[in-house]
Amino acid sequence: MSSTRFLTGITTSGTPHLGNYVGSIRPSVRASLRTDVESFYFLADYHALIKVEEPGRIQRSTLEIAASWLAAGLDPERVTFYRQSDIPEIPELTWFLTCVTGKGVLNRAHAYKAAVDKNTAIAADTDADITAGLFMYPVLMGADILLFNAHKVPVGRDQIQHIEMARDMAYSFNHRYGEHFVPPEAEIEESVATLPGLDGRKMSKSYDNTIPLFAPREQLKKLIAGIVTDSRAPGEAKDAEGSALFQIYQAFASEEETAALRKSYADGIAWADAKNVLFERIDREIAPMREAYLDLINHPARIEEILLAGAAKARKLATPFMGRLRHAVGLRDLRVQATTKAAKSTKANLPTFKQYRETTGKFHFKLVDAQGRLLLQSHGFDSPKDAGKTIGLLQQQGGAALTGLAAQIDMAANITLEEVGAALQQLIDAAAT
Ligand code: TRP
Repeated sequence: MSSTRFLTGITTSGTPHLGNYVGSIRPSVRASLRTDVESFYFLADYHALIKVEEPGRIQRSTLEIAASWLAAGLDPERVTFYRQSDIPEIPELTWFLTCVTGKGVLNRAHAYKAAVDKNTAIAADTDADITAGLFMYPVLMGADILLFNAHKVPVGRDQIQHIEMARDMAYSFNHRYGEHFVPPEAEIEESVATLPGLDGRKMSKSYDNTIPLFAPREQLKKLIAGIVTDSRAPGEAKDAEGSALFQIYQAFASEEETAALRKSYADGIAWADAKNVLFERIDREIAPMREAYLDLINHPARIEEILLAGAAKARKLATPFMGRLRHAVGLRDLRVQATTKAAKSTKANLPTFKQYRETTGKFHFKLVDAQGRLLLQSHGFDSPKDAGKTIGLLQQQGGAALTGLAAQIDMAANITLEEVGAALQQLIDAAAT
């Protein structure tokens, strides 16, 4: 399976709005239909714990977001759709990554820095009211991504730094423990517009200017009627470019429809009529999904089942991979022979020089083979430097140096010159590789 793996998470902290639909849900569902990609979508409920303290809201949001994605056409058979907290490998990997991530790197995370700056501005303790959860946010996100070795992560611009950090975590871990992770890349969808909200600023929960994606028809109509416009009267030509209403329309309409509304603007359409055109256009796209949404919301057991099946599918990959990662870092079955680096490398099978000091105050060395058998022993030297120099000579010249050093070293009993020569040659060969 060599297809590109896409993965993205949606924090379960609110009710999906039209901005989420246009910016994330709709393009993701479209991308999930491509046959050359493998998609992973998950509800980031562990991340929600960082910002939401109301348990009921987390549960409600999880239900609403899951229902929204499914109603918008996400096919759980085709993609892997799951809830983060159903995957215990994620918090486990979070810890592994925590241990290879510099604290200084996390100090520089935008969200954490912004919180610190805010405290500094009011002369508070720099870390006042900042949880370790906020600080660790990027590591949890790194685990989300690396656990499934995603190649591409479709996110908003504000998340690019997090993807870069996940890349660094992949490199650090790979450097220490071998090639296990694919370094992911952010996928920024340039063509997707950010939708303006009711007040003309970007539609965002934090501005309280959103239109809920599945607001009932009447409420949708009322909300659209509240979109800010200028005060031009009916019959007066209107400017399409600066108009939030027009931009929202554009996100739903075809090119022809958009051109037609542009003309209506120039012809002086009344704002009330323009709002009605927008309302009907949005409702045309949303209404069938709204029905599916309400049906799902009213059958939470169905959603729960879909998510649990998604988690089982995800864990088919995550559990064995985590097993390999556990082994890689040294969390292992004790019955299986330890293969430390030293035992694995030829180093452990090499003879070694050992330096020591006798009670006489003189410095000595000996050469022992891999099994600890004594091969030769030196006489006493006045300084460790002199002992070291002699070792150096043996390491460089091998058996050839032995005769010249006859006055300083003694062969061990039952050890032949050939044996010592062979041992020294082993060292020379090892040093050359
Ligand atoms: N931090 C993301 C956001 O706020 C949500 C998220 C959590 C995410 N884990 C992720 C996105 C992994 C992509 C990949 O939008």
